[in-house]
Amino acid sequence: MFGDSRRTVVVVGSQWGDEGKGKLVDVLAERAAWVVRYQGGANAGHTVDLGDSTFVLHQIPSGILHPGVRCAIGNGVVLDPDQLFEEIDGLVKDGIDVEGRLYVSDRAHLVLPYHKLVDAESSASKAIGTTGRGIGPAYEDKVARRGVRVLDLRNKDRLRELVTQGADHANAQLGRFKSDKRVRVEDTLALLDKLAGRLLPLAEDVGLMVHRAIKSGAAVLLEGAQGSLLDVDHGTYPYVTSSNTTSGGAAVGAGIAPTAIDAVLGVVKAYTTRVGGGPLPTEMDEALAEQTRKLGNEYGATTGRPRRCGWFDAVVVRYAARINGLTDLAVTKLDVLDTFEKIALCSAYEIDGELHHEFPADLTALERATPKYEWLPGWKRSTADARRIEDLPDEARRYLDRMRELVETPITYVSVGTRRDQIIGL
Ligand code: GDP
Ligand code: IMO
Ligand code: MG
Repeated sequence: MFGDSRRTVVVVGSQWGDEGKGKLVDVLAERAAWVVRYQGGANAGHTVDLGDSTFVLHQIPSGILHPGVRCAIGNGVVLDPDQLFEEIDGLVKDGIDVEGRLYVSDRAHLVLPYHKLVDAESSASKAIGTTGRGIGPAYEDKVARRGVRVLDLRNKDRLRELVTQGADHANAQLGRFKSDKRVRVEDTLALLDKLAGRLLPLAEDVGLMVHRAIKSGAAVLLEGAQGSLLDVDHGTYPYVTSSNTTSGGAAVGAGIAPTAIDAVLGVVKAYTTRVGGGPLPTEMDEALAEQTRKLGNEYGATTGRPRRCGWFDAVVVRYAARINGLTDLAVTKLDVLDTFEKIALCSAYEIDGELHHEFPADLTALERATPKYEWLPGWKRSTADARRIEDLPDEARRYLDRMRELVETPITYVSVGTRRDQIIGL
């Protein structure tokens, strides 16, 4: 991905999340100086399999497993400080040196215990099937201008004022939910007092640091979380997360200019999955979904929930290509389809007797959409050891060719297993 004219690259999920962003970021980070998370928070679960050990990263960028790569959490992330230190301590225990190369934007908003409580007690969150990590409530406070930022930990009086405001608002919401749980301002302040001593030394002007790195010619990766169809503007609203997951969010959330971005890599599975509620037009029948779930180990990396499974939806990915400006595609989990007799690709939707090639905004239209499938023969042998495109069976190459045509984006990587080395670069 990196070249002389490609120094700043966004990695973005181009379906409903869990496409294998963690794996791709880890692979690409070998040649990067910086990896920056730009939105979301601990709702993300990015898996990196190093062979003898597997890591699931929630807030720390997936570049952390390469010694010497600098990692930053941008202003667009809602940061759960308690979880962050749990994650750091876990990595250190596993022999990963984090010290001195992890930074947190002083503008990032904090996810506080009351955000998690509101998320847990809200029936609206249950209906969406949120991860319960307090993401929606924390972004709500940010937009409503009552959020607490990392830099507020530097001023105790200001912090007390903000936490009191936030807790009052959360308690009022809990009352409306008919929950008997309440938050105590003093408990939240005590927690923050305990964590501030560790968090403040990591706090930096991340936008400025990344800007300087880009100016010096360093290779910079911007790591997206969730997927494009979970974007609050472009996704299957209201069944979305509360941030802009798409590449537009990368500039805003890392604190750099949109013109600094040179390329956008869209990560897609060779099929489709989704966790939580909301439309999934190409959803398989339960027997086939169960088989795919087993083969692909499709269980949430953060919540452990079984993922819903569907065929590859080219309407979705072509839409993602447009709104993200995808320059490249990475297709993951091709190996999961190794045993299938035949494989379907959705090329259009039929809605009320009409053929649609563009992804509709209206949820009720999506509910009435019948996918138009193209069926291709399976290859019925293992692809796990393929390291060059020529190693892939003809049928697998035909499948990828059709995918590329329908999505109108070149495929630059094909992943054929969880491990770092199980990847084909084209
Ligand atoms: P992310 O959230 O986009 O980083 O993806 P997750 O880590 O939540 O889910 C992707 C899962 O697929 C993880 O368990 C990865 O180890 C696994 N994975 C990634 N690429 C491949 C692949 O090419 N083949 C297989 N079989 N598994 C993969
Ligand atoms: P990664 O980065 C898949 C989904 C939740 C729910 C909706 C809103 O690992 O791809 P939230 O807790 O964000 O308010 O939940 O978004 N969701 C994800 N699904 N992968 C993720 O992250 C997700 N993060 C949130 O399941 O439907
Ligand atoms: Mg994930």
